[in-house]
Amino acid sequence: MIYLTRRERFNAAHRLFLQEWSDEKNLEVFGKCSNPNWHGHNYELFVTVKGEINPKIGFVINLKHLSKIVRELIIEKVDHKNLNIDVPFMLGKITSAENIAISFWEELEPEINKLNCELHCIKIFETENNYIEYFGK
Ligand code: NI
Repeated sequence: MIYLTRRERFNAAHRLFLQEWSDEKNLEVFGKCSNPNWHGHNYELFVTVKGEINPKIGFVINLKHLSKIVRELIIEKVDHKNLNIDVPFMLGKITSAENIAISFWEELEPEINKLNCELHCIKIFETENNYIEYFGK
């Protein structure tokens, strides 16, 4: 089994908050990410797929195909957008890196399954010192 990763970057705004809480309570729980007037992050996304090598061509998949899927299904929808209000698949969700990763997985998995491989991991850096990984469950 070979693991293959495509990296993409995007910039997006968000706010972590619960409507029913005061700004003070949101600040206490969500920290600076609860800023009422939004803020942004330079996100880094790593999409890892796994599969067997096609012996004839020496590839698991053509990376151009993976790149195209990630760009069309994710990057074009989130880059320079507000994750809370501009991105249909994030509506109604708290835009934590955890929930972003799960949502990206749900968007990508059906298309990646059409290639000769499986989605293995979605990894997201929200800041350079923090990242989360999601393996589909
Ligand atoms: Ni934030």
